[in-house]
Amino acid sequence: MFYGVDYYPEHWSEERWEIDAKLMREANMNIVRLAEFAWAKIEPEEGKFDFSWLDKVVEILEKNGIKVILGTPTAAPPKWLMDKCPDIYPVDYMGHTYGFGLRKHTCYNSENLYRYTEIIVSKMAEHYKDCSAVFGWQIDNEFGGRCYCDKCQKAFRKWLKKKYITIDQLNKEWGTIFWSQVYRNWDEIISPRYSMSADITTHNPGLVLDYYRFYSDTIVAFQKFQIDILRKIVPHHVITHNFMKLYNGLNYFDLAKDLDFVSWDNYPGTSDNIIEPALAHDVARGLKNTTFWVMEQQSGPRGWQIISENPEPGQMRLFAYQSIAHGADAIIYFRWRTCPFGTEQYWHGILGHDGVPRRRYFEAKQMGEELKRISSMFEKGNIPAQVAIIRCYDNEWVFEIQPHVKKFRYIDHIRRYYEALFRNNIQVDVVSPVADLGKYKLAIAPQLTLTNEKIIENLYKYVKNGGILISGFRTGARDWNNRIIMDVLPGELRELFGIEIEEYGIIPENKFNLLKFEKENMIINCDTWYEILSPITAQVIARFGDNFFEGSPALTMNNYGNGRAYYIGSVPSEKDIDKFVYWLVKESEIHPLYDKPIPGVEFSCRVKDGKEVLFILNHNSKEVNIELIGSYVDIIKSKKWENHIEIPSKDLVILQKI
Ligand code: GLA
Ligand code: ZN
Repeated sequence: MFYGVDYYPEHWSEERWEIDAKLMREANMNIVRLAEFAWAKIEPEEGKFDFSWLDKVVEILEKNGIKVILGTPTAAPPKWLMDKCPDIYPVDYMGHTYGFGLRKHTCYNSENLYRYTEIIVSKMAEHYKDCSAVFGWQIDNEFGGRCYCDKCQKAFRKWLKKKYITIDQLNKEWGTIFWSQVYRNWDEIISPRYSMSADITTHNPGLVLDYYRFYSDTIVAFQKFQIDILRKIVPHHVITHNFMKLYNGLNYFDLAKDLDFVSWDNYPGTSDNIIEPALAHDVARGLKNTTFWVMEQQSGPRGWQIISENPEPGQMRLFAYQSIAHGADAIIYFRWRTCPFGTEQYWHGILGHDGVPRRRYFEAKQMGEELKRISSMFEKGNIPAQVAIIRCYDNEWVFEIQPHVKKFRYIDHIRRYYEALFRNNIQVDVVSPVADLGKYKLAIAPQLTLTNEKIIENLYKYVKNGGILISGFRTGARDWNNRIIMDVLPGELRELFGIEIEEYGIIPENKFNLLKFEKENMIINCDTWYEILSPITAQVIARFGDNFFEGSPALTMNNYGNGRAYYIGSVPSEKDIDKFVYWLVKESEIHPLYDKPIPGVEFSCRVKDGKEVLFILNHNSKEVNIELIGSYVDIIKSKKWENHIEIPSKDLVILQKI
């Protein structure tokens, strides 16, 4: 498998390159990413290209058995270009134009950006098309952001025209009659810039949602533009992009579609944060429903102005193995060596400023040696998840525009379920609402307020064929253009859930209600939101335990086809979510990887050619001793274990059953 670093040879003098490559080879590294911010060095002046330095680096790396991913450098257009074409600078929603001095100063609707991108990307591709060291490309770097300039507004109008065809249709869908916002023609339409309130989300909800979608499409199109150039010139190279954790500024399913595989940048930080990277890995895997790369894996303390905690001995390796346990097929550390200058002076690499191999280097080297021996046993291996959590960017945007409840975040609702599943040692795929759900025993769709025909059809099909679904919180309440439907809720999903929604309301911050189960002797705290359910064909599983609606149905189950659809009229609290999920998992007959939670210990399984390997990671600061029925071999240390296993602090085992 690929194992390596993000390398910035342009930050050091040429004499160092041989030493770096040798050290990388000795650490069993076989790939580096290069050049994604090197536009000014490759094209120091318009039309003057200098590949000599990069050729030298690539040659040295190749001599050392190291392959290369080249970044297209469009995330950092150079000063000469910005001076020549200031229209490339984006504009924020307050109307302020960005200046020079950071990076990502790009409006993706600038024709000039397209023009100069075409030149630099084609030049690079032509230059390296026959270079045997080049394995593939990373497009740009961490796409994101939204621009509100006039060019974008113009493009937005075009996008809307394509979508709504007539201006009357747009007025109807957005409901512009409200506050006399009716548009007479396309040229009158605004983008959601500063108006009276500094919060753009107070604009018409249909308009804001469409702007988010439009901007997502804009970025996807810019990426596609680069991909098309590369596919033509270097069809034999792979193409990826480095995604950002749980970022929701654009629709990642769309961004992933045109790529060969997804990569993402993983900076977990400390042991207190073991679940978030796990979730982000599962999000990355769900984007194309397959394994992925980590293009930037944390290798030391992070830091711009402030420096984060220093990863303890073993922790860098452990987090890298966590990536693999969740489906990473390449680990590339950010970065090779800590830079002595620039904004990221304190964003630490495998080597420190002094370039001397020390603790982090030796840890990376150890892992490189291990991977060389064992990676073939899991590389490209699947994660056999029985549970799907549905994440839908359009719905996430709806709740970003209108959180409904103070501080509520869509992703936190997902996170709440995910964390409980994680602690119960259950693997999860995070998938789109139109993904094929057939292979899952349980699908959790916590927040599908916006639905369309395809989504509705998919949910009916899944349950009909035997799936178990749970939804709640405004499910089916809005059409795809963000209008609230005038039907009895949950709208077209009424038959599936076998209920009607009587009434709804918020549960204020720090207040709770209760879910009292009818059969089981169980009471669960819930918060955020309540919906009083009225069963039509569904059975009542739990009732509210407090407030004026005490005794009203709060959780129902409807038999539909061969499956069951649960509707939960609230959100199980942070404190009780584990209890609730444990119950749900039992109802769905899901088998955890280990039958009881062990704090700080993570279980994950990958299946390759029908053979399972079980990763057990100990994130704790002390050793754990775990009972395990049967005989196993830890493939890292080739050590046999029977009926129990000991794992030192910040270490792991990868077990095969014998
Ligand atoms: C991101 C970027 C990198 C670097 C790191 C550290 O992930 O992709 O270029 O800036 O963060 O800040
Ligand atoms: Zn713009």
